[in-house]
Amino acid sequence: MVIFQDYKLFKFLGLITFLLFVSCSEENKSPVSTISESRTTEEIYTQACAFCHDRGMAGAPIFANTYSWGQRVDKGIDTLTYNVKYGLNAMPAMGLCADCTDEELKAVVQYMLDSLD
Ligand code: HEC
Repeated sequence: MVIFQDYKLFKFLGLITFLLFVSCSEENKSPVSTISESRTTEEIYTQACAFCHDRGMAGAPIFANTYSWGQRVDKGIDTLTYNVKYGLNAMPAMGLCADCTDEELKAVVQYMLDSLD
């Protein structure tokens, strides 16, 4: 009887391990598809731009800080987006969003401009 119970416990643990394994591999799949298929402009900013633009790293114009942007705003959305796409001095090309489309980059730049007074 004791042996039988141990065997049941063994099977039970095996099932738990199997379920954990399955649920982990499911979890690994979902974030990838969520990010590449439907990401909002705000999410892109947070993931690919905020690191430098929230604090003005290396002279980066700061989010919601009109003074730090100075004359940059006058360049217009298209020139600004071009500079984001191809890089400008310490500003790396495409920020940290290597797979962003032109439309996404433009939307993020607009999002940053909208944060200004
Ligand atoms: C590694 C830091 C870093 C990251 C990440 C980064 N930037 Fe920048 N960004 C800078 C710096 C530094 C400048 C100022 C460059 C200069 O004028 O010398 C800048 C400038 C800019 C400008 C002004 C360009 C101009 O023509 O004056 C825009 C717009 C901009 N960044 C948008 C973005 C966007 C959008 C992202 C994310 C997709 C991003 N940046 C990610 C550092 C960064």
